[in-house]
Amino acid sequence: MKPTILDGREVSASLRSSLQEECKELVEKGHQPGLAVVLVGNNQASRTYVNMKKKAAEALGFHFELIELPEETSEVELLTIVEQYNRLQHIDGILVQLPLPEHIHEQRVIEAISPDKDVDGFHPVNVGRLSIGLPGLKSCTPYGIMKMLEYYGVDLEGKNAVIVGRSNIVGKPMAQLLLQENATVTIAHSRTQNLSAVTKQADVLISAVGVKGLITKNHVKPGAVVVDVGMNRDEEGKLCGDVEYNELLSLVSAITPVPGGVGPMTITMLLNNTIEAARHRLL
Ligand code: GUN
Repeated sequence: MKPTILDGREVSASLRSSLQEECKELVEKGHQPGLAVVLVGNNQASRTYVNMKKKAAEALGFHFELIELPEETSEVELLTIVEQYNRLQHIDGILVQLPLPEHIHEQRVIEAISPDKDVDGFHPVNVGRLSIGLPGLKSCTPYGIMKMLEYYGVDLEGKNAVIVGRSNIVGKPMAQLLLQENATVTIAHSRTQNLSAVTKQADVLISAVGVKGLITKNHVKPGAVVVDVGMNRDEEGKLCGDVEYNELLSLVSAITPVPGGVGPMTITMLLNNTIEAARHRLL
């Protein structure tokens, strides 16, 4: 049987059309959702991502502000700007694009963003709320993966979910979200012994490591659902994931491609979180 291709572009388009409607409703109530993105320095990849966020936000009808700061910006200056935006009534979401220049302590900046405007879901208050099942803003990539699994009707109840990678941005929040849906969750990582024995237990396998070719047919149980969060470059500079996609096609029941899988969901969930933040603040 041919596997289901979990198409992030399709899911994104469907979610964005609902978000556009929600944006319209908020505008009619007198509040245009507002997103502020702070970009420090000259990282070209960051600039590209920020431009994609701007385009996506404006296409939905959001108010968007880009705050561009030079590489030499001090931590105190950046913290002052974040605090200003915390107080602005027309701004619902604040995102400080990472990575920051080395002289700035990222965690201090993340913690300066008001948890109510933390559309990345990185603030310890939101991380903590997620871990005890309280409502709050959730990290975009794992939240987007949950939306994809829901869209394609992947049943998680009682299933073995294995996540490879334990980052604060993907692996750990992914585990919390899967646990909330009653999956049996395992997190594997760089020190895991006999990785393939662990991943072969997975009904749902999520790889979020950043190592090209890490997950092969020897790591996957027949019929598994495989989600590839990897964003790597091959020898020719082409975007590829952690998963040997072609060799898994005949083995899995569903799989995300790279590109066109998880990637498109991340910005969509940023837009979703901005709407959630706007609604919450209007309550
Ligand atoms: N840099 C790469 N991905 C992200 C993200 O999701 N949020 C922020 N703030 N910076 C990033």
